[in-house]
Amino acid sequence: MKVAKTIESVRRLVKAARGKGKKIGFVPTMGALHIGHISLIKKAKLKTDFVVISIFVNPTQFGPGEDFEKYPRPLKADLEICKKAGVDVVFAPTAKQMYPRENITWVNVEKLTEQLFGRSRPGHFRGVTTVCAKLFNIVAPDLAFFGQKDAQQAIVIKRMVADLNMPLKIVVCPTVRQPDGLAVSSRNQYLAAQQKKDAALIYKSLQKCRQMIKDGISNSKTIISRMRKVLQQAPSIKIEYISLVDAETLRELDKITGKVLTAVVVKIGSTRLIDNILIDTEKK
Ligand code: PAF
Repeated sequence: MKVAKTIESVRRLVKAARGKGKKIGFVPTMGALHIGHISLIKKAKLKTDFVVISIFVNPTQFGPGEDFEKYPRPLKADLEICKKAGVDVVFAPTAKQMYPRENITWVNVEKLTEQLFGRSRPGHFRGVTTVCAKLFNIVAPDLAFFGQKDAQQAIVIKRMVADLNMPLKIVVCPTVRQPDGLAVSSRNQYLAAQQKKDAALIYKSLQKCRQMIKDGISNSKTIISRMRKVLQQAPSIKIEYISLVDAETLRELDKITGKVLTAVVVKIGSTRLIDNILIDTEKK
């Protein structure tokens, strides 16, 4: 496994692999790797011949007062994980490499970023799409792998790739969960033991939603209010929002129909946790 710290070196390594006829897979991450990331690497290894992972805590996707400074950066442990998982190249640039001067060119996907997470984290998606566009230009992968856990991010990135005719395909992989249902996330490590237990209610509320839709309840207000009750069992959970949206347009649905994305965002202490499920009402 090679570790590339510069844009020039990762480009050289990818070019050499491509020269040997290899298909390039790319897993962009912010490090603090966990089994969710490992599942993306595994998928990338299955679908491509040469896997590049980036580890970069991207400053432009954090708002003022968010956890940019405290975001975990266990690079040594991450490199071990990558080695074990069979990654070919880790691209771990500095902020100076990625943003050598004031950044005045931004990639902004409209509409899809105005709802859901975009409301509670203004500017977040502009940072994500800009850094992903940069990373795609640097690594030039054939396939890039994203987790369903960040459903809106995956939808927004797919749209950016389509709208800008970027020559790669986005592969979205299922959310990895702990046995109690909690979606695996780098931010889970901020939680104390009791908070972690409470966080399992997030998935319980999503399961409740799935069951209600299965039972024929189609009024989203009713569904949301019952999901709230599940979450309110733990006083530590502060609900930011629960939304039932069209899985393609991300428009809020009053009446449940078609493919529905149910998204939950809560805060436990100062940690924001997100999760979602996709429900195809036609396939009850
Ligand atoms: O999902 C993440 O970890 C980040 O948003 C990404 C895609 C690596 C961009 O910084």
